[in-house]
Amino acid sequence: MKKNQESQQLIKVLNTAVVGLLAIVILLVGGLVFVAFYDGPSPKENASETSNSLNTALAADEVVDGKDVATGFVIDEGFEIVKATCTGCHSSAIVLQNKFTREGWKAKIVWMQETQGLWDLGGNEAIILDYLAKHHAPAPPTGRRVPLKDIEWYELKN
Ligand code: HEC
Repeated sequence: MKKNQESQQLIKVLNTAVVGLLAIVILLVGGLVFVAFYDGPSPKENASETSNSLNTALAADEVVDGKDVATGFVIDEGFEIVKATCTGCHSSAIVLQNKFTREGWKAKIVWMQETQGLWDLGGNEAIILDYLAKHHAPAPPTGRRVPLKDIEWYELKN
């Protein structure tokens, strides 16, 4: 009877040991599989993501509907010079929201040169003025007749 009890206890202990060992093996294998297949955020991928979004922010040369996405400027002769010159101190929006004749743009440039530290634009000035006068000119008047010109006034006689 006593021997029987002892062997039963031995079987219990062995059982527990086997279950424990199995648990350890399963955990180890699971850990190895996890390590082997885990493809978490590697610093390399993050870095390329950041530079991608930086590139998007600077929107290098993306063009939609003939317009430069980064600035909203129309792609045409002089565009590169205008983009390079007129977005250095302020957003292109300040250019886009204004409409002037060539003389009006010239006056703005002179004003910026005299008061805002804009440099002498040299040979680029004519190119910039051509571009601005073409793409950012006041719309022709609509809905009202154009003011009369060259009127010959006559003197009223009593
Ligand atoms: C050296 C810096 C600088 C550069 C380069 C520059 N601007 Fe400006 N500009 C300014 C400053 C400063 C203002 C005033 C901004 C404000 O009021 O917030 C201004 C204002 C303006 C305005 C608004 C003027 C108004 O009456 O409200 C226009 C239009 C403009 N700039 C067009 C241009 C164009 C076109 C170019 C390219 C030829 C250009 N800017 C380049 C500094 C600059």
